[in-house]
Amino acid sequence: MAIETAVIAYPAEQMDDALWQARFPEVQVLIDSATLQARVRELGEQIARDYEPDNPPLLVGVLKGSLVFLADLMRCMPIPVSYDFVAISSYGVETHTSGVVRLLKDLDTSIAGRHVLVVEDILDTGLTLSYLLELLRTRNPASLKVCTLLRKRARQKVAVPVDYCGFDIPDQFVVGYGLDYAERYRNLPFIGVLTGIEGEVK
Ligand code: IMP
Ligand code: MG
Repeated sequence: MAIETAVIAYPAEQMDDALWQARFPEVQVLIDSATLQARVRELGEQIARDYEPDNPPLLVGVLKGSLVFLADLMRCMPIPVSYDFVAISSYGVETHTSGVVRLLKDLDTSIAGRHVLVVEDILDTGLTLSYLLELLRTRNPASLKVCTLLRKRARQKVAVPVDYCGFDIPDQFVVGYGLDYAERYRNLPFIGVLTGIEGEVK
């Protein structure tokens, strides 16, 4: 298709949560997509105000869960940010965290003297983030802050200082908006509770 005009318009509507719900009946909506988007926007605008525009942060996303949140968040931050990713394995199987953490992918960039904002999908026991923060601190960033979309206060085993938090949620296993169960459900546009899973829930 030839694009002839300078401005390209996309249809603004997203697929309705109800349509997704019909296709994923095992997931109950906990935070609908409109509420999620509104809060992400608030967070992004607040973060953008908190940093000097000429000294913006490097956003460090924790793969894979934070991808969707990071992508939306940075587009609500009208400052010139950069981003990078780390991947961490908690040696967990499905919904269990063992507490042993391993770095699978390191940053591509040096963070010495830079403002770093770690962007995480969910703070559960806190083991993953406390490991990551300890590691990043050894590299002497100018500052190190944390933004998590979700936090399960009841589950926290290690105290992790959180500078920005989207939502405090109950101790339930959630999926969607980047969060998975056995690699599924990451593409749901809302946060939902997965019903009918067996065993201990993270
Ligand atoms: P933590 O080390 O226990 O804080 O675990 C954090 C990581 O576990 C998150 O980055 C997620 O990848 C995963 N996780 C924890 N709770 C949930 C959940 O309810 N749904 C999906 N993934 C979760
Ligand atoms: Mg994660």
